[in-house]
Amino acid sequence: MTAKTYMVGNWKMNQTQAEIESFFSGLSLSNNQNNFWIAPQCLHISKCMDLGAKAGVLIGAQNCSEHEYGAFTGENSVDSLSEMGVHFTLVGHSERRTLFGETDETINKKVLKASQTGILPILCIGETLKEREAGKTLDIVLGQLKAGLKDLKIQNESEVIIAYEPVWAIGTGKTASPEQAGEVHNAIREVLSELYGDFGQDISILYGGSVKPNNVEDLLAQPNINGGLVGGASLKAESFNALCSAC
Ligand code: PGA
Repeated sequence: MTAKTYMVGNWKMNQTQAEIESFFSGLSLSNNQNNFWIAPQCLHISKCMDLGAKAGVLIGAQNCSEHEYGAFTGENSVDSLSEMGVHFTLVGHSERRTLFGETDETINKKVLKASQTGILPILCIGETLKEREAGKTLDIVLGQLKAGLKDLKIQNESEVIIAYEPVWAIGTGKTASPEQAGEVHNAIREVLSELYGDFGQDISILYGGSVKPNNVEDLLAQPNINGGLVGGASLKAESFNALCSAC
């Protein structure tokens, strides 16, 4: 298995222009092989593309529209994102699912649309606390995985990334234990292998949910955890540097 390891910062609706400048000027990334990525607010993509190019950080979006163009006020099309040079887009983050009512069907359309436009989709999946307590974790997570990837064809392992983010661990300070996360990642790996054969062995599966410099190494020690999708701890250069140096 040779799945690549990525550290991806999801800045959500945070960071002023001054904070962005201070973030990039504080970066010092060793062992950088184009595997440290940031998703800022869309408004800041252009600025981050300039600063990221100097720092060797690839830039992505937090969301995209499933529609090509037209009367969809407030949305961003994959064509426009692609023109700006974004490398990837998050799709189906749990905040999009719960706060904005995104369904598996919409999320699947976004995955396909991004992929057709040459933007790498990072499909986010994860169970709520209620679902975990009811013993439904794998049903939910694998169901979201299969629905999100429906009809997606890939030519190699680097055309899609999966992010497993238990909803109860996002922004709460409660991380899944490495064993809890590892178990779900192993199950995701099996489904990816069924769907994509050899490529499925090498698709990167990120873990997200309160990843911090003090827990990242234990998480990355699990065989099928191939990096992190990080909110809070990606906002400051110091902690992003520390997360990246664990890769
Ligand atoms: P967190 O967010 O690291 O702040 O928990 C992760 C995410 O929402 O992607």
